Amino acid sequence: MILGIQRPMKAIAVKPGTPNSVHMTELPMPAVADIEEGKGVLVRVLKVGVDATDREINDALYGNPPAGYDFLTIGHEVFGVVEETGANVRSIKPGDFVTATVRRPGGSIYDQIGTYDMTSEETYYERGINLRHGFMTEYFVDAEEYIVKVPQGLQHLHVLMEPMSCAAKAIQQAFEAQQRMKVWRPERAFVLGAGQIGLLSTLVLKNRGLDVYTLARSAKGTLNSEIVEGLEATYVSTRETPIEALVDQVGKADLIVDATGHSGVAFDAMNHLGHNGVLVWTSITGGERAVEIPSDKINIEWVLGNKLLVGSVNANKSHFESGIRDLALGEVMYPGVLQRILTNPVDGFENYQELMRLLVEEPTALKVYMNVSE
Ligand code: BGC
Ligand code: ZN
Repeated sequence: MILGIQRPMKAIAVKPGTPNSVHMTELPMPAVADIEEGKGVLVRVLKVGVDATDREINDALYGNPPAGYDFLTIGHEVFGVVEETGANVRSIKPGDFVTATVRRPGGSIYDQIGTYDMTSEETYYERGINLRHGFMTEYFVDAEEYIVKVPQGLQHLHVLMEPMSCAAKAIQQAFEAQQRMKVWRPERAFVLGAGQIGLLSTLVLKNRGLDVYTLARSAKGTLNSEIVEGLEATYVSTRETPIEALVDQVGKADLIVDATGHSGVAFDAMNHLGHNGVLVWTSITGGERAVEIPSDKINIEWVLGNKLLVGSVNANKSHFESGIRDLALGEVMYPGVLQRILTNPVDGFENYQELMRLLVEEPTALKVYMNVSE
């Protein structure tokens, strides 16, 4: 940063309420002094990832601007380098690679103890998504408590930190909820969906020692199936082997993670969970589809089998940290596999239209991201 010069910086934003409004705009340059008590961290943005949430925000399905603005800066998967820190910042120093949590606290008790991902309020504040500007800017500033250090040795996995935090949280929630039993020794997991959350969930479950089956429609031979196999999990093409057939072969699962973005699949998963098992829903389905389900059958099986369903959204700093440890272990166990998720880079703010085009139109894209600066 050139100190003393207050130039505006570039930002990529949408006009909430107006479909396909993504555009380039400007914001004032932030400063560490914007954050109270000497706790500010100024970050130079290196890369920003996009996902289905950004697509749906640009489709004006949801997303709200911060108070006083008619636009919302997008971007919630950030990787950057610390430029400057406030006088009372201890855990991070200039030159460190970092990412940032997405949600900011509201007023509930859960928000006040650092677990803002569990807010009990209807309104939630998420950078780049709802009521707070995102990270698709040249710089951003935030308080130390929302900044997460990324180890040097994981810098090549940059924008995966945020999606990883969501996978790490979802699985941790499942394990914590299972403490309802004196012992829980899960052996077999099904991961439904082989997009970024499905793949990262596959890794977390492998790290926990489970026998993991990752299910998706495509026949084997796609990048997705190669990544699953690279993680030493079993890829199952549901076109060839529907989930019923898999259950016939290997039995029901102790844990199922749904990451398909398809509510019909999320509900159908209820038919394939074993006794004392837990089903975690991580994805959401925009739309108004309605499916018919065998409700009597599910009802009796779930009661007689003590089964549990958990919904999971977002992540707090502790999940970013545990997710980063999972990535580190993943790199040691399966070197070079995880970076294959990072499929589609786009260079520079000027190419924001190309970024959105890849996100919407490129079926083989696993992760689309912007290289903001070097
Ligand atoms: C983000 C989460 C966020 C959720 C709901 C996801 O795309 O990665 O951090 O909580 O959308 O807005
Ligand atoms: Zn996201």
